[in-house]
Amino acid sequence: MFVNSVYFCFIIGLLILVQTSYSYDTDHLTNLGAFCSNDSSLGPPNLNPIDDSSAKLIRTIENGSLYTIGAGDDKVWLLHLWGYNGYDYGFAYGTLLKEQITQLIPRAWAHFEQRIIDELDKLKLPKWFEDMVVGKGLAFALDFQNTIVEKYIDKEIYEEMRGIADAANVNYYSIRRLHMLGEITRGRCSLFGLWGNATMGGKTLQLRALDWDTKGGLQDFPVITIYHPRSEKLGHAFANVAWAGYIGTLTGMSSTQMGISEIGIYFSDDTFGDESMSGLPFIFVERHILQYSETLDDALSFIANVKRTCHLVLAVADGKLGTARMIQYSHSLVNFFDDQNLQPLAEWHPRLPNAIYCGMDWLCPSRQYKLYKQILSQYGHITPESSIQNITSIAKTGDLHVALYDLTDMIMYVSNARGTNETGPLEAYQRQFVKIDLNIEFARTHAFFK
Ligand SMILES: *[C@@H]1O[C@H](CO)[C@@H](O)[C@H](O)[C@H]1NC(C)=O
Ligand SMILES: *[C@@H]1O[C@H](CO)[C@@H](O)[C@H](O)[C@H]1NC(C)=O
Ligand SMILES: *[C@@H]1O[C@H](CO)[C@@H](O)[C@H](O)[C@H]1NC(C)=O
Ligand SMILES: *[C@@H]1O[C@H](CO)[C@@H](O)[C@H](O)[C@H]1NC(C)=O
Ligand SMILES: *[C@@H]1O[C@H](CO)[C@@H](O)[C@H](O)[C@H]1NC(C)=O
Repeated sequence: MFVNSVYFCFIIGLLILVQTSYSYDTDHLTNLGAFCSNDSSLGPPNLNPIDDSSAKLIRTIENGSLYTIGAGDDKVWLLHLWGYNGYDYGFAYGTLLKEQITQLIPRAWAHFEQRIIDELDKLKLPKWFEDMVVGKGLAFALDFQNTIVEKYIDKEIYEEMRGIADAANVNYYSIRRLHMLGEITRGRCSLFGLWGNATMGGKTLQLRALDWDTKGGLQDFPVITIYHPRSEKLGHAFANVAWAGYIGTLTGMSSTQMGISEIGIYFSDDTFGDESMSGLPFIFVERHILQYSETLDDALSFIANVKRTCHLVLAVADGKLGTARMIQYSHSLVNFFDDQNLQPLAEWHPRLPNAIYCGMDWLCPSRQYKLYKQILSQYGHITPESSIQNITSIAKTGDLHVALYDLTDMIMYVSNARGTNETGPLEAYQRQFVKIDLNIEFARTHAFFK
């Protein structure tokens, strides 16, 4: 899906160039080779009630406890981990979700491997990497990639993977390879950060809509992990939204009232700079921010100074300060935007006070404009509920999962794509959301340490 659509985008992009219907910034357009697909169709509002039932305890072990939250097909695993080091976190993770991890990893691997090999020429990877995948296989290429990036990755991350592998009795290398895929496939997603007059009651809200790949079976085992550090080297408590065995961060909130969102960029322009495979993979940049940043400034200076890799847009919001920033991100350049200088500046991506947003890609007029129009339609009284009901569902973004962060009150709302044996619509943005009160989850203590 992610790759087919790139090719599709190219063809449609050429068509759009000669057939513009709403007026664009034409100076800007002359610089473009192609841009994102024109999909201005709207979805129905999401009228499912939000599930606000409390978490149910399934099992407690040394250093961890497993809950479920939500009901029926939209139930999510809620995993609590306590640790002095990454290995403690990983061992408890692998013990509590062994069955789910052993099902997820082979299936996801088989799917992503086939897709990447089939569509290699469309992924915009360096030639040497493509040649390596063709000549030696994807597993070899990802292991080689690991040797390039490992000096940037926190040792505790590898220890956590090792703990999972040991406890769940799965191959350590297959877990590590799964965490290298993000850099290659990215994901085309949407995000916003809204504060002050944009929202009801002036709350700080953030959207993370993940449009990745719903065919890899990830959504069969959605997991929200709450990390409770027992030593300073592990930072502070945070919540990571992912799938059984996946410890990189694409989506999550920290106990310091910060949230993170990300979009993989295919339709960039010449303001982006270079890409590189050498640096800290972005899923660990995002995780570092949730795990260690106390403030928005901490997060932004980390992003400015870290060895970055590929073309992305990130957003970081801080409920303590009541604001958000969007970040244009690449290996060689980084730019920080607020509501005053948001880019790209075009008639299909206007600025709004107290808002940053990006719909699906950078040069993606129809998708950017659709998200803008839905934000505008609710503007001034936006809540997580109105965003779920009237923004993501109508703009049709977030097929694999959607999360809304209320960073003022520390509540997270999450939905996941339809799993293998489940019923209802496929896309997460049309499904039931589960409400997670992080005030309760971050405050949970472990029975063993009381
Ligand atoms: C995009 O598609 C819609 C309907 O499919 C059409 O009305 C509109 O003119 C198209 N826009 C562009 C820029 O081609
Ligand atoms: C639990 O964590 C403690 C330290 O936090 C560690 O010493 C112990 O080995 C861990 N237990 C298991 C089963 O991983
Ligand atoms: C936000 O609302 C306040 C109070 O209504 C008003 O004074 C202020 O100008 C508004 N700010 C913006 C950016 O619209
Ligand atoms: C969604 O939009 C409809 C129609 O404009 C409105 O009646 C409804 O209140 C909105 N939903 C929320 C939760 O604000
Ligand atoms: C789906 O149902 C089949 C048949 O009951 C079962 O074997 C399989 O494990 C289920 N898959 C998932 C992901 O739940």
